Amino acid sequence: MSPPETGPTAPEPQLAPGLIQVLGKTFPFPRRHFLSVLDLNPVEVADLLDLADGFVVLNRQTSKKLDLLKGRTLMNLFFENSTRTQSSFELAGKRLGADVVNMSPRASSISKGETLIDTAVTLNAMQPDLLVVRHASSGAASLLSQKVSCSVINAGDGQHEHPTQALLDALSMRRAFGRIAGLRVAICGDVLHSRVARSNVGLLQMMGAEVRLVGPPTLIPAEADRWGSEVFHDLRKGIAGCDVVMMLRLQLERMDGVLAPSQREYFRFFGLDREKLACAAPHVRVMHPGPMNRGVEIDSEVADDLAVSLIQDQVEMGVAARMAVLAALSARLDND
Ligand code: NCD
Repeated sequence: MSPPETGPTAPEPQLAPGLIQVLGKTFPFPRRHFLSVLDLNPVEVADLLDLADGFVVLNRQTSKKLDLLKGRTLMNLFFENSTRTQSSFELAGKRLGADVVNMSPRASSISKGETLIDTAVTLNAMQPDLLVVRHASSGAASLLSQKVSCSVINAGDGQHEHPTQALLDALSMRRAFGRIAGLRVAICGDVLHSRVARSNVGLLQMMGAEVRLVGPPTLIPAEADRWGSEVFHDLRKGIAGCDVVMMLRLQLERMDGVLAPSQREYFRFFGLDREKLACAAPHVRVMHPGPMNRGVEIDSEVADDLAVSLIQDQVEMGVAARMAVLAALSARLDND
């Protein structure tokens, strides 16, 4: 075997178009935007998860900063309230060395009636590199991506998608079980209004998990039978034998009519407590994207039990997964 070429005559490694290199790893990321899990393929997801694993290590160190995004500007444009998602994108950007600007409706012209597109085009003129958008309308991030020249990341569009949430959930599961393929995952509760559910169904199925949907008929979308997931209207039956039980928030703010019974009755049938959880696999782990309605969809005793709950891990993984997405998109910008 001949020794590797070294010294000044060694050829510069050439990256094929569409390939990016982050933290010494080369992988394809052929898109400018991060809008939907359906744009990804299993290799890209696995690469992003590997990258995120690296960032988890970094985030646990005293010194958490890299300069992968040095000189870049990230704008957080949140038309809907957020605690976890907005702050984790902010931290993710800052830990990678970007300048981060947070825009929220109350503090901007959005509250004076400026449209989504006007706002985005105005912000785009300030030359951001990455625009993170949350909006109440399905398709908002995709629409924006057609109007601006920077990368757009969907941080939740209406009931449609929340792709970085699905990525961080996959990361939490892969770290807990060592794999995603073959896991039996029940997504339970208000599936109808949940962009988290839609993104998780798409991503988990793509990675080889079996996904079930569990909820009252009024909170399961009519088209769910085309999602390739078995639907259950009984929580105990739906979570039977499951490795992961993912609870969803009852999204009262998105409900026009009465879709759920009283919160007490909802808890009785669809709230996760220890007794119902006993129907799942003995090693079951419980997840929730937050914010939680304690005593409505989940009992505090389950949510706070660190032996079963991955809810705090999900928050930690959120920063790492978003760092992976920002790093991949920004490396892609370098290649343009
Ligand atoms: C979710 C959201 O906003 O879609 N939360 C989150 O991103 N952490 C779920 C929810 O609001 O219930």
